[in-house]
Amino acid sequence: MTLPAEKINGPILTATTQTQLRTTIDGWKEQGLTVGFVPTMGALHEGHLSLVRLALEKADRVVASIFVNPTQFAPHEDFDTYPREEEKDIAELENAGTHLIYLPSANEIYPDGPASTLKAGKAAQGLETDFRPHFFDGVATVVHRLFEQVKSDVAVFGEKDFQQLQVIKEMVKTKDMPIDIIGAPIVRDEHGLALASRNAYLSDAELQMARQLNKVLYQTASSLRAEGEAIQSGLPRRSDDLLAMTDKAKEQLLEVGFDKIDYIESRWDRTLAAAWIGKTRLIDNMEI
Ligand code: PAF
Repeated sequence: MTLPAEKINGPILTATTQTQLRTTIDGWKEQGLTVGFVPTMGALHEGHLSLVRLALEKADRVVASIFVNPTQFAPHEDFDTYPREEEKDIAELENAGTHLIYLPSANEIYPDGPASTLKAGKAAQGLETDFRPHFFDGVATVVHRLFEQVKSDVAVFGEKDFQQLQVIKEMVKTKDMPIDIIGAPIVRDEHGLALASRNAYLSDAELQMARQLNKVLYQTASSLRAEGEAIQSGLPRRSDDLLAMTDKAKEQLLEVGFDKIDYIESRWDRTLAAAWIGKTRLIDNMEI
């Protein structure tokens, strides 16, 4: 992608401390430039780069952070083995047009030691929280801390983590933070699989199975849409019919080889799912 001349800012800058971050961002603000922010945990793929591109459309300068946040992992989860590919990530962020990469140490984010000091709001209830109770408090804490440090005008998050996006929108509203939160569409591979850093854990055979998740979700969301239209047109429907649709989806996933389904549920305007293949947990969602 070629950037318009006014967005080119020389070679990519990096900051590892708040002081370095502020020097650059305050300089931009003095020039009247707007700032977009893309927080990540690294192990980047096309989905992350699409967030950077969207941020470039919304702001004059784009900051991306790479920080594998310890407070959003439970002790039994994959914090230690989470893929870390910093050099490759930096090169890809630079190619996508990022102006500044923030690479904080854990101490820069958690000077008093890693702990979730913020409680996520109502959007965090159910779905992910039923299975990862620690998760959204950790996400809300780190995102709040990063927002305070970066002070961008907008921040972009992927719609793949749809509940996370709602949690962050709610947090910004509750805390009255002056930042626009923008959701970016899910990026999928040619078979419809939502791109995710944890897809790297899948073997070839598991990848084939994983590609069924979006197909089953698509069918479920389509059936629910038809059911919704029937309800709107006044046809009688029972709530067990709706439940039967998500139950059928769960059965289909188990039949193609998924090991465990955490949930398939409809909320907001989406059908959302989390399911396991071996030790890999996949999430996805489809608009109804
Ligand atoms: O979606 C992610 O990658 C992470 O949850 C986030 C928002 C960067 C916070 O650590």
